[in-house]
Amino acid sequence: MKLFATLLVAAVAAGFSGDLHAGDMFKGRQLYNSHCAVCHGAGGQATMPGAPSFARQERIIKPDFTLLASIRTGKNAMPAFQGILTDRDILDVIAYIRTMN
Ligand code: HEC
Repeated sequence: MKLFATLLVAAVAAGFSGDLHAGDMFKGRQLYNSHCAVCHGAGGQATMPGAPSFARQERIIKPDFTLLASIRTGKNAMPAFQGILTDRDILDVIAYIRTMN
């Protein structure tokens, strides 16, 4: 009972804390469709040679922070998104691409 109360308090605290951000995949989907789908494909089947297909889990088996860094600064043919998307936006997009399988 005491454990249950502790878990409940922790869950409520997490739910109301604006800073503990779990990626919002619905917002992530909108951002993905407008900024990423042109190369990575609307359903995660890449349309550009060399771009990973997220529907096949290509290149996303890495921590969020590593992916965030690549998306922020860009990589070879991929443009940088720093200044276009906030880190929070990018984390939302990452949450969405992790659901594409
Ligand atoms: C102009 C085409 C283009 C756009 C737009 C684009 N990408 Fe990419 N992306 C690429 C290419 C090409 C690569 C492979 C880069 C390489 O390693 O050579 C890549 C790689 C990646 C990777 C793998 C990075 C890694 O560290 O291995 C991720 C994740 C990714 N893109 C996410 C995104 C997201 C999210 C967006 C939208 C915010 C986006 N890309 C927009 C072309 C694009």
